[in-house]
Amino acid sequence: MKLYDFTKSYQWFERAEKVIPNGIQGPRTPRFSAFGSVPAFYSKTLGSHVWDVDGNEYIEYLCGFGAVALGYNDPVVEKAAAAQAQKANSTSFPSPVMVELAERLVSLIPQADWVVYGKNGSDVTTWATQVAREATGRNIIIKAKHAYHGFHAWCQPSVGVPPEYQTYVLEVDYNDLKALEQAVAENPGQVAGIMLCPIRHDTFKDLEVPPRSYFEGVRQLCDREGIVLMFDDVRCGFRMHLSGSAMVVGGDPDIVCFGKSLGNGHALSVAVGKEKLRPTANKVYFSGTHFQAAVPMAAAIACLKEMEARDAVEHMNSIHALLKKGMEQRGKSAGLQLAFSGTGGLFFMTFKPDPTFEKARFFCGEMAKRGVIWHPHHNMFLGAAHTEEDVQKSLDAAEASLKLTKEKFGS
Ligand SMILES: Cc1ncc(COP(=O)(O)O)c(C=O)c1O
Repeated sequence: MKLYDFTKSYQWFERAEKVIPNGIQGPRTPRFSAFGSVPAFYSKTLGSHVWDVDGNEYIEYLCGFGAVALGYNDPVVEKAAAAQAQKANSTSFPSPVMVELAERLVSLIPQADWVVYGKNGSDVTTWATQVAREATGRNIIIKAKHAYHGFHAWCQPSVGVPPEYQTYVLEVDYNDLKALEQAVAENPGQVAGIMLCPIRHDTFKDLEVPPRSYFEGVRQLCDREGIVLMFDDVRCGFRMHLSGSAMVVGGDPDIVCFGKSLGNGHALSVAVGKEKLRPTANKVYFSGTHFQAAVPMAAAIACLKEMEARDAVEHMNSIHALLKKGMEQRGKSAGLQLAFSGTGGLFFMTFKPDPTFEKARFFCGEMAKRGVIWHPHHNMFLGAAHTEEDVQKSLDAAEASLKLTKEKFGS
């Protein structure tokens, strides 16, 4: 097989660096994976496949960093989006599709008695913390260490953010109920809300699915102390369960934030919540120019219907099981120790040991040269469009890439 070359990708990257800070912002930059050994720009996407600007075709396990769960350019979703685009999109007053989507979400998600709309996950996670604070008249938000809830100042330390912005944010270890109880006990009557992701999916870490007892304990703690429990289901949402990941992990949150795959590639996020928080949701300001755009909402309705019709979550689970088994077998044959973690639509693979992710980056580059987009240290995603044939081809690429990894690094 002729190995892929990424010349045009890096020509575009050079051009980008002249006019865009960092060339490509955030984790989509090739500097965050295997610079020079992976493509930097795509020209086309369809289903589980993508094409880069050099004309190389790949099977892809990133799904737009979770932005699509049905598959890229899903024909049913795109038809619904195009039909809505003919009528109205970002307008002065909203379209009825906004109500229809809210009705669907309310009927689908047990915790949803109401729905508010944003564009990005960060919009709704930040707004949820404001609702928790206003509802309780308290200030402190507890989150898990290293958990990502978006780029906003309350949760993402960065240059340009005064440390005071995080004064009222406490961090505890994920999946450690005692640590959470202790943080609450040390701040009596001051904790407004606890925000948690349904599974731990921190970058550079194996994924961790906590036992239901963890979230049951968190729920009891929140009930006892009058704390608002918020789930950040932005990444896992609709990949673990169509009615929200709490169906799998428990916890019965008071507010749930979704984004990413809701519009299957069309920008849309929502926070949904329980009736008791409606009066506060009425009060806490939330507005953005494009928040009520109709095209992503039409896309989301079609996406949710299709996810259900195609039993997408079950499909992702079975593809995940095949991929996991195959990778583990090939790792063993190559004499390498692999850790495969995650659940269905979200998964991660690490080499043990590989403290600096050097092996992972090398492996990832070899996979890209052979037509598979893999990530060395961010969790990957599956969608309803991934097929058994995709898995087989990926495993063939992995076999060769693992052999080379072993030759280069030893065990
Ligand atoms: C769990 C989680 N919450 C919130 C966000 C922020 O979403 P967005 O990047 O759409 O603002 C992300 C994004 O990766 C996420 O994974």
